[in-house]
Amino acid sequence: MSGYEALFKVWRGDASGGDLEDFRVEVNDGEVVLDIIHRIQATRAPDLAVRWNCKAGKCGSCSAEINGRPRLMCMTRMSVFAREETVTVTPLRAFPVVRDLVTDVGFNYAKAREVPAFVPPAGVGPGEYRMMQEDVDRSQEFRKCIECFLCQNTCHVVRDHEENKPVFAGPRFLMRIAELDMHPLDAAAETGRDRARTAQDEHGLGYCNITKCCTEVCPESIRITDNALIPMKERAVDRKYDPLVWLGSKIGRRRPPG
Ligand code: SF4
Ligand code: SF4
Ligand code: FES
Repeated sequence: MSGYEALFKVWRGDASGGDLEDFRVEVNDGEVVLDIIHRIQATRAPDLAVRWNCKAGKCGSCSAEINGRPRLMCMTRMSVFAREETVTVTPLRAFPVVRDLVTDVGFNYAKAREVPAFVPPAGVGPGEYRMMQEDVDRSQEFRKCIECFLCQNTCHVVRDHEENKPVFAGPRFLMRIAELDMHPLDAAAETGRDRARTAQDEHGLGYCNITKCCTEVCPESIRITDNALIPMKERAVDRKYDPLVWLGSKIGRRRPPG
């Protein structure tokens, strides 16, 4: 496909308000939306604010809404749009705008700090940790997260409900709690912390009604809902009605031999 001209509508403004601005801009073979935003910066609007770092789908910083869908700008090929289609780029809706396409994602850092860290097992030194491969594999999926916060932006619990933010950690951080809850060496239980129950009671797991919208926008294809949130909901219910089962499972925790 040779070069052509596309119509872009880019949101410009700040916390006090803003509007879409039109740009007719050249598009070449193999380009992604971030290339076009950079071309607009280089040729038409040098003060256009946009956050990006890697242009390889790995730093998680170029998140935006493209034709209403939360996506990474650097991983959205122009070839997915028809030539005559208008491409509208707006900032993430769930977070406050700083300027143009840059939002303040501090909500996510605050939520990250609220998740209690891994508790090292007593009597086992660094370098002596041993885990079954299947336990490693299970949490490996969650560790692919690039912290783009597209899932956090998409989840309806906070997207249109600012009032829910204080009590809801969001899919990315509920997934982090699930990862720790599945970790066979995490000793939080020995300190009296039931991670699944506290996810429910303190981090808003109960607000999640498993719509899977978070999973649909994840650029790492992490099955957030099916593999992290739904199993943790089930564990939270099981433990609520039978706390001895939870205690027994922690005491008799599976550890590899040797
Ligand atoms: S599955 Fe839960 S966390 Fe994910 S978008 Fe739906 S309500 Fe939000
Ligand atoms: S879970 Fe997926 S969508 Fe959510 S922050 Fe991580 S990589 Fe982004
Ligand atoms: S620029 Fe790093 S993920 Fe897009």
